[in-house]
Amino acid sequence: MDKSKHLHGWLFSVVLFNIFLVGWLFFVENSDEQLRLWAIYTALISFFYFVLSFSAGSLFSFFPNSVTTFIRQGRRYIGLSFALGHTFHLVAIVSFYIVMQERPSIIQVIGGGLGYLAIYVMAVTSNDWAVKKLGFKRWKKIHWFGANYIAIVFIYSYFYTLLAGQLKLTSVLLGCIIVLCFVLRLVHFFRSKNS
Ligand code: HEM
Repeated sequence: MDKSKHLHGWLFSVVLFNIFLVGWLFFVENSDEQLRLWAIYTALISFFYFVLSFSAGSLFSFFPNSVTTFIRQGRRYIGLSFALGHTFHLVAIVSFYIVMQERPSIIQVIGGGLGYLAIYVMAVTSNDWAVKKLGFKRWKKIHWFGANYIAIVFIYSYFYTLLAGQLKLTSVLLGCIIVLCFVLRLVHFFRSKNS
């Protein structure tokens, strides 16, 4: 498939999910928690794109088949789709804080803010020109650090309720998916080092 079609396909899917989400939340669901739910579900949509791009290399090495090849080939575009998906999260949280007149915690501002910095640095350097300009080693370091940092923010966000003494099973399960990605990546790293 031609590269731009591949990219447009992934980006289009993010936009489509977010249109469905807004339609469902604001026209069907009648809750005074709509804006909080908007923040939670925009994070969930982008989570799936993140997991795919974060585990693309290790998934392919453990299960080489047409699906994992497709994911690995589209990794850059899936990453860019994650950045777009998380921009919807940004719109949702800004609306949430303005309308609900709540204030974010310092951990959310600094921890999440640095996450956004990582997301946009990675997004603007996700092209051949930037890889050439930065040099592959430096580019790889930036993307390795950014992706791992974002993974940690996801783990924190999903395990947060647990730290606060409540058990939200779906959140814990989602957090465990990221932990599993870390394990896969680590095993993949040591396996490829030894071979
Ligand atoms: C890389 C950056 C970020 C990531 C990966 C992230 C991830 C998440 C995730 C996974 C959830 C869903 C939690 C759940 O289901 O219980 C969430 C919800 C939320 N996030 Fe973010 N977030 C980021 C940045 C931020 C920032 C910068 C803020 C605010 C300054 C923020 C504010 C919120 C709010 C208000 C919710 C709604 C749920 C709640 O009230 O706890 N996020 N985020």
